Amino acid sequence: MPNELGLFSGNANAALASEIAGYLGLRLGEAVVGRFRDGEISVSISENVRGMDAFVIQPTAPPAENLLELLIMIDALKRASARRITAVVPYFGYARQDRKDRPRVAITAKLVANLLTVAGADRILTMDLHAPQIQGFFDIPMDHIYAAPVLLRYFDEHAGNDLVVMAPDIGSIKMGRAFAKRLGASLGFVDKRRPRPDATEVMNVVGEVEGKHVIMIDDIISTGSSMIEAGSAVLRMGAAKVTAGATHALFAEGAVEALTNSVIQEIVVTNTLNNERRGSDKIRTLSVAELLGEAIDRIHGEKSVSSLFV
Ligand code: R5P
Repeated sequence: MPNELGLFSGNANAALASEIAGYLGLRLGEAVVGRFRDGEISVSISENVRGMDAFVIQPTAPPAENLLELLIMIDALKRASARRITAVVPYFGYARQDRKDRPRVAITAKLVANLLTVAGADRILTMDLHAPQIQGFFDIPMDHIYAAPVLLRYFDEHAGNDLVVMAPDIGSIKMGRAFAKRLGASLGFVDKRRPRPDATEVMNVVGEVEGKHVIMIDDIISTGSSMIEAGSAVLRMGAAKVTAGATHALFAEGAVEALTNSVIQEIVVTNTLNNERRGSDKIRTLSVAELLGEAIDRIHGEKSVSSLFV
């Protein structure tokens, strides 16, 4: 059927893709995303997609296989004559290298934008980019949506009163400010330094935290060190309790153990990534499937996506 909505998924987060399909009342399209004996990725679309409005759901966190699967799926759909291909990238990986902050380094965010475009993506749907200006690296339309409604609903119901929203670094102040406004809380931020790429040192904490429940908000938790160091600093300043909230649970090796053994009482994340390293009672995972499903439906129906967030 021309212009039929088709949903496809790679192997990076099949659980989220199934949930999105459930929300839309669709089945996932038939595709084999496998490997040759030597490990090379092989994709075969097993149904007719001519004229289809195809959406490929795949976060691009490491390993790089995830990104490559997405590129190869897009190529297969393009060669099978899909009418329009949207890469649905719930977590856009390689985004932290978005400028030359030192000599002789790559700008991987731009490289990935180029790769997706060359592969044949006509549009991108993504969530909580590490830096919103990465949108400008694409010359194809991009819908950039936020997990905030899902996280805010949870904090509205569970966080109680006397709240302070804390941005654990300067880069997350904008996100923190939106959360503070919506929760009727005050805003603070942490001035952090990175002595090494995966280590964090808190220089200063700005904000009144004494006796407060501090909710730290960031886009990513990787090693957990930003959240752990910020949490320890605000408790030293007299905060009553610390919770962490983030969209993307990257959870590098050792992060879950470190977070579990830390002063943080609860870590609230979403399922943009299918991370198996999250087995801890302290970690609560919320689903963004409805938000992504609704955005897909609106893109397909040529309706406003931004009005999802007003
Ligand atoms: C940094 O700019 C990001 O917003 C996060 O704060 C950072 O990626 C978190 O990394 P980690 O959990 O390793 O401190």
